[in-house]
Amino acid sequence: MGLSTFKKRTVTCGELRKNHVGKTITLTGWVDKRRDLGGLIFIDLRDRYGKTQIVFSPERHEGAHEIAKSLRSEYVLSATGVVRARPEETRNPEVTTGEIEVDIHELTILNKSETPPFPMDDYGDVNEDLRLKYRYLDLRRPSVQNNFIMRHRAYQVTRQYFDQKGFLEIETPILMKSTPEGARDFLVPSRLHHGKFYALPQSPQTYKQILMVSGFDRYFQIVKCFRDEDLRADRQPEFTQIDVEMSFVDEEDIQQITEGAIVDIFKTILNTDVQQPFPRMTYTEAMERFGSDKPDTRFGLEIRNCSEIAQHSGFRVFSDVVKKNGIVAGINVPGLASYTRSQLDILTDYVKSLGAGGLVYLRVNADKIECSASKFITEDESNAIAKKFEAKPGDLILLISGTWQKALTILGTLRLEMAQRLNSIPEGKWNFLWVTDFPLLEFSEEEKRFVAVHHPFTAPKPEDVPLLETDPGKARARAYDLVLNGNEIAGGSIRIHTQEVQSKMFSLLGIGTEEAQRKFGFLLDAFKYGAPPHGGIAFGFDRIIMLMTGSKSIRDVIAFPKTASGMSLMDEAPSTVDVKQLDELHIKIK
Ligand code: AMO
Repeated sequence: MGLSTFKKRTVTCGELRKNHVGKTITLTGWVDKRRDLGGLIFIDLRDRYGKTQIVFSPERHEGAHEIAKSLRSEYVLSATGVVRARPEETRNPEVTTGEIEVDIHELTILNKSETPPFPMDDYGDVNEDLRLKYRYLDLRRPSVQNNFIMRHRAYQVTRQYFDQKGFLEIETPILMKSTPEGARDFLVPSRLHHGKFYALPQSPQTYKQILMVSGFDRYFQIVKCFRDEDLRADRQPEFTQIDVEMSFVDEEDIQQITEGAIVDIFKTILNTDVQQPFPRMTYTEAMERFGSDKPDTRFGLEIRNCSEIAQHSGFRVFSDVVKKNGIVAGINVPGLASYTRSQLDILTDYVKSLGAGGLVYLRVNADKIECSASKFITEDESNAIAKKFEAKPGDLILLISGTWQKALTILGTLRLEMAQRLNSIPEGKWNFLWVTDFPLLEFSEEEKRFVAVHHPFTAPKPEDVPLLETDPGKARARAYDLVLNGNEIAGGSIRIHTQEVQSKMFSLLGIGTEEAQRKFGFLLDAFKYGAPPHGGIAFGFDRIIMLMTGSKSIRDVIAFPKTASGMSLMDEAPSTVDVKQLDELHIKIK
């Protein structure tokens, strides 16, 4: 006799098939659905492994049937009975256990449940906040559980892959020194050190570089990162990276290791063959063709530059922009010449909301081209623009002018918007793409100084090092991002490994010697003792799982995510704390 007060399961709810017919078994699980057909009661019993139909008959097993009358959704049961084949017409091919049912003669209610706040099976329309408040119920849904089963498998494949390639998994601190990496730090006050703070890592960047100095050669970690930034569908304040660093390598080595991991994960989990090598595109090309540093290459609608035509135009908006080193560029949307004036007005408002000064459009008709700026743009110019876009009757050309960065970025967003309207983004494609040759620095108008595009430890391209003295904004970085279907799923770089170049970089970023020593002294010191050339990458694990599961948001693949305003609705974090706790930390709330 075991110590258990209930009959333990002999099979799971996903297990029974025709060959079990005649066997006496015990199932445990939750009441998924209940149907009362006159005398007979049918229950779909659910656990992580599936659903099984169990049946209660008043004639054959009166006792069990009597208890079954009180069953409601989400009650927890232990049920024992005999497996039997379902009559032909009631078989359900959509469920793995659809050929059988179990005739129950012994039933124990292990626990009751209040009526769930939303239906448990199909509630696509249920408000996400409600789902997050009752996340324990939301997580019972088979479709959500499948996301976590896939996530689990991805951890295992990842660990196996990196282990086989000679990487060591090493944990790094969660309480660390605040070291700016681009986003805002989450701070943790120190009780023992009055007025001092730990920061939660935005990533283990400095630690993994120091591990290279220590000679570990190949490091990886599946690690939580914390960033206090504005949240979106693909961003959480805490998220998971597969973090990687390698010594004595160049870009190609890291890209190969990364591709291998992706190929393994996709093959093992989705049985999808991903072709290697992944295509590569420079940042400049990505911007000029797709208006994005993470282009979705699953569809066309590519951007074309019309500056040459526009620069001589009598249309001053265009010619002036080109004279000031800006551009005029656009996209050609097939079939949308039929857009009405009011539809085009709405589209104009849309691009203005993205920061454009305006939108010029050309409707390409069979007999003539209608241009929204026809007062200023000649027919010849319209024709030249249509030719540039290889436009056909029915096409709608949308043009934007502005600085290179701004005009292209707006067009990139417009391109995605129009593709969605045309429903022209194909499903089932996995377009991986390396974006390379990012700029090293970008000028922040807000802070009136250069900031690192990737992070301050990224090395400049050797041939661009002289530019650091003359024209730092033009220097390119040894950085690369991996993009999948328009999502940035990984990013990394070859690092600076000498103290001199690192100091130079800090000074370009407006971080003085004293400040650099205070903030990164430990790293600069480490570099004095023989740092090997090194580089690495980090995969956005949640984003990869989001894409692999076809989820719309990374919240669907994180067990206990935060809302867009950074709240955990289930446990109500963040919350106030006791005055005593604050006193111990010497903190007063203003
Ligand atoms: P990076 O900042 O590019 O690089 O981050 C790497 C990848 O992490 C994912 N990611 C996020 N996912 C969810 N929520 C977020 N808030 C979030 N922020 C980033 C993205 C991104 O590509 N230390 C460097 C890596 C390196 O240089 O080795 C780093 O963290 O998919």
